[in-house]
Amino acid sequence: MFKHVTVDRGRRGLLGAAGALILQAALQPTAASGQDAAGPKMKIGIIGAGHIGGTIGGLWIRAGHPVLFSSRHPEDLRDLVARLGPLAQAGTVDQAIAFGDVVFIAVPYGALPQISKDYGKSLAGKIVLDANNAVASRDGAIADEVERSGIGVTSQKYLPGARLVRAFNTLNYRIFEQEAERPAPRLAVPIAGDDQEAVQVAAQLVRDAGFDPVEVGKLADASRFQRGAPGYGQNVSAAELRQKLSLAP
Ligand SMILES: NC(=O)c1ccc[n+]([C@@H]2O[C@H](COP(=O)([O-])OP(=O)(O)OC[C@H]3O[C@@H](n4cnc5c(N)ncnc54)[C@H](OP(=O)(O)O)[C@@H]3O)[C@@H](O)[C@H]2O)c1
Repeated sequence: MFKHVTVDRGRRGLLGAAGALILQAALQPTAASGQDAAGPKMKIGIIGAGHIGGTIGGLWIRAGHPVLFSSRHPEDLRDLVARLGPLAQAGTVDQAIAFGDVVFIAVPYGALPQISKDYGKSLAGKIVLDANNAVASRDGAIADEVERSGIGVTSQKYLPGARLVRAFNTLNYRIFEQEAERPAPRLAVPIAGDDQEAVQVAAQLVRDAGFDPVEVGKLADASRFQRGAPGYGQNVSAAELRQKLSLAP
């Protein structure tokens, strides 16, 4: 059944406490993951409930996190949320941002300037996981900017103040779907961000989705796993990815 939510803007005042809870979850030494992951649950708002947003959101629901998927046409998400069960809701982009202790964004990169204009203020201060890739044939001139400046730096320019972490951008959604929770060694997911707390939250969410996070560095280092870079498209374990990127084991 289609579940439409009411925005509770008053929650924003509680985000300090929620942030502490998120961090507590992220820093738990025995990282629970996958189905019935133990530990505190994070409310996740998703902007762009397409292939990648729908897939990764579904994995988080499997791990027990409540997820609000958003669309400019939320009624189109009726089937998705019905399939994913009671932890799934659908709403507008505003509702997803208000709902999420963490926001996951997976839209065509060319939509980022518009999203910045419409939602930049409400995303400031939020932990935002960014899976967007820039594709010249689809996204136009902004793909050149990404080539010049690097994707992490460019995303941060359009989402100033967001606690941005690059994540889940390197592989096709079908691979994420098929390889989640695979027997050890699990599939590696490179992540990068300037905000260490946000990076730890993202790392926990990578584990909860059923993968091993590999911390590549700051947002400037996210260019090492953007499209065309050595860390992109690597269906490998964390140890192999660290080796390929000359990171400490
Ligand atoms: N497909 C993959 O396997 C994959 C893997 C890794 C990374 N990525 C990257 O992830 C991003 C999404 O890819 P995808 O394949 O999931 O695309 P998709 O299936 O086409 O879904 C994109 C979603 O973005 C939303 N969207 C588009 N413009 C928007 C705007 N201006 N404001 C708000 N929402 C907007 C659309 O939602 P509504 O039309 O419903 O509003 C749509 O559901 C891309 O940057 C892609 O390069 C994709």
